[in-house]
Amino acid sequence: MSGMREKYRIVENDWVAHGIFETVVSAPQIAEKARPGQFLNVYIPDGPMLLPRPFSVSDVRGSNISIIYKVKGGGTALLSELAEGCEVEALGPLGTGFFDYPGSLTDLGRDHFADRKVTVFLIGGGLGIPPLLYAARAIKAARHGRAQIVAFLGYPGDPWYTKQLLNHVDKVFSASDMPGRADISGTVIDAMDAKARGYLGDRETANAPALICGPEAMMSAAAQWCAGHGLKSRVSLEARLGCGYGVCRGCSRVFKSPEGGEGPYMDYSGTKRTVKKVCVHGPVFWGDEIIWKKP
Ligand SMILES: Cc1cc2nc3c(=O)[nH]c(=O)nc-3n(C[C@H](O)[C@H](O)[C@H](O)COP(=O)(O)OP(=O)(O)OC[C@H]3O[C@@H](n4cnc5c(N)ncnc54)[C@H](O)[C@@H]3O)c2cc1C
Ligand code: FES
Repeated sequence: MSGMREKYRIVENDWVAHGIFETVVSAPQIAEKARPGQFLNVYIPDGPMLLPRPFSVSDVRGSNISIIYKVKGGGTALLSELAEGCEVEALGPLGTGFFDYPGSLTDLGRDHFADRKVTVFLIGGGLGIPPLLYAARAIKAARHGRAQIVAFLGYPGDPWYTKQLLNHVDKVFSASDMPGRADISGTVIDAMDAKARGYLGDRETANAPALICGPEAMMSAAAQWCAGHGLKSRVSLEARLGCGYGVCRGCSRVFKSPEGGEGPYMDYSGTKRTVKKVCVHGPVFWGDEIIWKKP
């Protein structure tokens, strides 16, 4: 487990768009360590609500941490109502992030294409956009102009997310089945078919994994699209978490890779599999190690 469960002061708690809030807490210990793709467990100050609610870090500003969330149920509703100056308990940063592997896009010391310009795809939708905001900022900061970021948004919930992303990326293509709501009519895969191929020519782009976060069906299709076009992907899995730090096993899931996690185990066909916990081994995994749930 990383960090301690501590009380942090809320410095901003704002309605930013329809049903979407940004809560900023003063949390120097978390801010110092938080990496893109990691999350916080927030303990909602209400007796019966025992389980913490996980939220991705959407930004680090000095010693402050921002989370951006949609009000879904009781926990997010209560969090959105807390006044500035109140304290809220949180634990973090937790989990494995987008760039937590040697030679990643932000690990320039070990990155063999550090000084070359690279195009990075972000693919997201819905609750998946907040961690992509922080990832985009981290790429831009680490590579000092040697990164072009192109985002593909499926199921765009609110234009506010698109506007936020546009502050951090070079181009956003949105896709929706609803006429007039997005750049491309159809799914995020239709958008990638129409617009992503043009960026795929160079080796640097082929070496930079796409970052994917959103609903499972969208992530599955996007990761398979990437694999089919020679791109690796880093995928932040959606899960209902219990403890959030590896104890309750509520988030265990079977993965293809025989290493890491628990195992290896044999599946019904005699293939070696491993069991990993989304909260500690993830939430970010390599796209090619995920066994996707059937829609
Ligand atoms: C690692 C991680 C990072 C997350 N980051 C963000 C984020 O940055 N922004 C954000 O808006 N949300 C994020 N979520 C989802 C967020 O944790 C849930 O929306 C929240 O816990 C719901 O709490 P609640 O008490 O309001 O709703 P509940 O009363 O617990 O549930 C209300 C509804 O929300 C749905 N729900 C609950 N948990 C999840 C979940 N994990 N994923 C999808 N739907 C859920 C339920 O199915 C139910 O329909 C993240 C989840 C995880 C696992
Ligand atoms: S949520 Fe408890 S082990 Fe992952």
